[in-house]
Amino acid sequence: MLAEALEHLLTPCPAPARRMGLLRESVAIGARHRRCREAWRPHLERCRAHILQAADACQGGGTALVLGSGRLLDIPLEELAARFRRVVLADAVHPLNVRWRARSLPGVRLDAVDLTGTWQEVLQGRLPRPADPALYRDLSPDLTVSANCLSQLPLAPLARLEAAGRYDADELEAFHRAVLAAHLDWLRTLPGVRLLLTDTAWPPGPRGDDPLPGLQLPPPLDAWDWTVAPRPEIHADRDVTHRVAAFLLRG
Ligand SMILES: C[S@@+](CC[C@H](N)C(=O)[O-])C[C@H]1O[C@@H](n2cnc3c(N)ncnc32)[C@H](O)[C@@H]1O
Repeated sequence: MLAEALEHLLTPCPAPARRMGLLRESVAIGARHRRCREAWRPHLERCRAHILQAADACQGGGTALVLGSGRLLDIPLEELAARFRRVVLADAVHPLNVRWRARSLPGVRLDAVDLTGTWQEVLQGRLPRPADPALYRDLSPDLTVSANCLSQLPLAPLARLEAAGRYDADELEAFHRAVLAAHLDWLRTLPGVRLLLTDTAWPPGPRGDDPLPGLQLPPPLDAWDWTVAPRPEIHADRDVTHRVAAFLLRG
């Protein structure tokens, strides 16, 4: 608890990300990973292997862009930095250990961004129309990885909009779908190899069992189960497992 409180205190974080609860979430993911390290290992190794395979398929060694880089649990950062002249890590929050790892790797850049482009309006209590976030238009990445962040992108804005109490369920559902669709459409506009790693099913909850409502995806390259919370992390008598898949996106 003390380590988490210190990390929360010391991690540089832009105010909007802090207000959206993303710093708290980042610290919580780190703590859960420490508790569930063995259960997460197969999932994380599989993600890293898919990223390296996608890197092998790249024509050039110019730029790799990682969306939702977070704590780099599923990202082979050192290997990417050895293969690409520039590696851009894009997330709302870059934890202290990630900053430390990146320091010794020339060409690695950390961008603190809102990948949905919706926060400014959400924080003013307005319901935005999600669209291309207008990021990285001039980057020309050879490789882009959307790293297990897609299903997470709508959650913080939705929580905030729900708390505001001004929008009905249909409006919020439409917003949820639009955030997901905008991310996928944007990925498809980027050049180079595009790898999407994402949950595709999770246990029924307040938002159903589909993390990607309304989204049309191609057949996956691969799919597997991720034991997110082995018992008794959340439930004393059962594990919480998500279905995860890797997709190569075409234009
Ligand atoms: C489940 S984590 C992804 C795991 C990450 N690849 C790792 O290895 O730690 C989801 C990530 O999405 C990021 N995220 C969520 N919403 C975001 C947004 N609107 N803009 C940028 N990053 C966001 C979170 O900060 C978090 O790092």
